[in-house]
Amino acid sequence: MSHTYTSIGWNRQKKLYDGVMAAGIIVYLGLFIGIGSLVHPNATLETLLIRAFGTCALLMLHIILIIGPLCRLFPRLLPLLYNRRHLGVTMFLVGLAHSGFALFQFHALGDLNPLVSVLVSNTRYNSLANFPFQPLGLAALLILFLMAATSHDFWLANLTAPVWKRLHMLVYVAYGLIIAHVVLGVLQAETSPILASALGAGMIVVLGLHLIAGNRERAVDRPKTTADSKTGFVDVCSVDEIRENCAKVVTVSGERVAVFKYDGKVSAISNVCQHQNGPLGEGKIIDGCVTCPWHGYQYLPDSGASPPPFAEKVPTFNLIVVNGRVLVDPTPNAPGTKVSPASI
Ligand code: HEM
Ligand code: FES
Repeated sequence: MSHTYTSIGWNRQKKLYDGVMAAGIIVYLGLFIGIGSLVHPNATLETLLIRAFGTCALLMLHIILIIGPLCRLFPRLLPLLYNRRHLGVTMFLVGLAHSGFALFQFHALGDLNPLVSVLVSNTRYNSLANFPFQPLGLAALLILFLMAATSHDFWLANLTAPVWKRLHMLVYVAYGLIIAHVVLGVLQAETSPILASALGAGMIVVLGLHLIAGNRERAVDRPKTTADSKTGFVDVCSVDEIRENCAKVVTVSGERVAVFKYDGKVSAISNVCQHQNGPLGEGKIIDGCVTCPWHGYQYLPDSGASPPPFAEKVPTFNLIVVNGRVLVDPTPNAPGTKVSPASI
């Protein structure tokens, strides 16, 4: 959490994921170059390397983009989310290798700086067939660089979570730029349908999963009840609906609230983790603390504050239990405000 920064938490699970990722990249590049040299015996090694690293980075970007919605739909896949940052930084390095080989192959032999050459060597912006597709790749690479460079929690804390989140949402802009880079570039001359079909299928999967996960989120956000006219509290669920040490996520006045049941009582806190907006209500109470399912930040259920020495705080909600029903005050308390849990 924000108390100290360690470079990387190399636990056993992370090492395993990184090992699988590195092996996957090596196998992909080896197969691509091996099969490519058999199918296209005239292709140079440079061309095969450019294509292998480019398609590898694009495949990795697709995986990165579908991890979010997949985890919303299948919580069992949450460990993938936990390791997504390493995948992102590695994808940037693979994209950088592609860009480096392309700059060397196409722009390094003239008088101009290769980066300037990418921008000025083709200016036919009014031609679809000869569109300067390489600056689009460069723009995407700059975004991926910004994201990789700020991926550490140090930057998350210093930029603040909302700014960091907005910056990292640029991944969708980078995705659009890379799709345009490929469609306006290599696909124009490509005779084999493999790249075009793989790209189309990838876009359908990314878009489809985002739409399905988004629909499910909207269903949770639909408030099911209105506030009681006397108390102003909202009847959100029955105590029996909540599993021990787990939460039910409800929407009250447009805000997601996680109602936790533990040790014969219930408490309600905001569902939004201070780290990266993870869904606290999908976490569990471990060692007396609500534990975020994404990266393990912890909060006390009655105060919404992280246990010392950590300093994160989320808003809490007043609540009562009447005849086995949980009633929540829709007005949140300031983050970290202690609220007596309601006894069941
Ligand atoms: C300075 C930045 C970049 C430059 C100069 C560049 C240049 C190129 C060139 C010249 C090609 C055509 C290769 C060929 O004709 O065989 C290409 C294709 C491609 N690029 Fe880039 N690129 C850049 C950045 C990126 C990035 C950041 C990505 C993805 C993360 C990317 C993904 C691809 C893909 C998927 C292809 C198609 C691969 C194929 O030929 O099958 N590029 N790029
Ligand atoms: S979002 Fe990272 S710990 Fe909650």
